[in-house]
Amino acid sequence: MTSGLVDRFGRVHRDLRISLTDRCSLRCTYCMPADGVPWLASSTLLSTEELVRLARVAVSLGVREIRLTGGEPLLRPDVVDVVRALAGLRGPDGPLDLSLTTNALRLPALAAPLRDAGLARVNISLDTLRADRFLELTRRDRLADTLAGIDAARAVGFSPVKLNALVMRGVNDDEIGDLVAFAVARGLEMRFIEHMPLDAGHTWRRDEMVTGEEILEAVSARYELEELGRDGSAPASLFRIVGTPATVGVIASVTGAFCDRCDRVRLTADGQFRNCLFAHEESDLRSLLRDGADDARLAEAMQACVSLKKPGHGIDDPSFVQPSRPMSAIGG
Ligand code: 5AD
Ligand code: SF4
Repeated sequence: MTSGLVDRFGRVHRDLRISLTDRCSLRCTYCMPADGVPWLASSTLLSTEELVRLARVAVSLGVREIRLTGGEPLLRPDVVDVVRALAGLRGPDGPLDLSLTTNALRLPALAAPLRDAGLARVNISLDTLRADRFLELTRRDRLADTLAGIDAARAVGFSPVKLNALVMRGVNDDEIGDLVAFAVARGLEMRFIEHMPLDAGHTWRRDEMVTGEEILEAVSARYELEELGRDGSAPASLFRIVGTPATVGVIASVTGAFCDRCDRVRLTADGQFRNCLFAHEESDLRSLLRDGADDARLAEAMQACVSLKKPGHGIDDPSFVQPSRPMSAIGG
């Protein structure tokens, strides 16, 4: 191994997020337009073999954790094969910590095969427990299917199962307590996320954002919390609900930026390597790969990309400009 994925600020990158597709079965208003989404051309999408090769190179540079994202990763027809191949990779400490972020719609069919292929845990996006609101928010009438997917994840024994909710003022901020109650009753870990300026419509407003502090107040109104602090480079601040084993997490990506401890890099479904969700430049690993680059050349390109990483996302900086690639094509 060369010197690994270390940037100018000494941050060591061990967590790779791979977007398996930019397609999705929902149309969350904060993520995608209702229609007319400019999909990635299929000829640009990495094959499973290409994707696994890039993952292997990243692992040789010190990556220990891989999270599969989308769009909706379970829409990729060969997602079980991808999981099986990645579960077979070995880092310096043995098998990778492999996880997946999903909207759960395909979990009733896929939870068992994914577990058998080597997936240990999942994060499921759930912003509301009300069917009418779910329809409004995702433009699809599928709350019941999402809940069935959550049940499937529990039934096959994924552990932990985390639920992620993006909190939006006047949209679902009155459901914070209900979401915690839903998670606690099922032994799931609830995580609330501050809304970041990544929406397709560019409608994000700083002063409309529900802050981590407000989220915490809402949870505290219903539950007594004990602060557990943060676990290494994990973005969530964790709290235990006193008297239970349940934890609640708050991911304050904007007001409590954790960029100084960031250990994440990203690979998009079309083979672009990114050093930040908010980066404006990408490294075109797909072209390198298809032009016949060897592993050493690919590793060098990854390192060069990481060496250009900025100290932080700069959302609070007046000069902040949202990346042109939408969240659904970057991967969460
Ligand atoms: N800010 C924060 N989180 C977001 N997600 C999507 N868009 C945003 C945003 N603008 C989250 C979703 C989902 C995950 C895939 O990414 O809530 O949990
Ligand atoms: Fe799909 Fe996730 Fe985007 Fe919603 S946030 S449209 S579930 S990719």
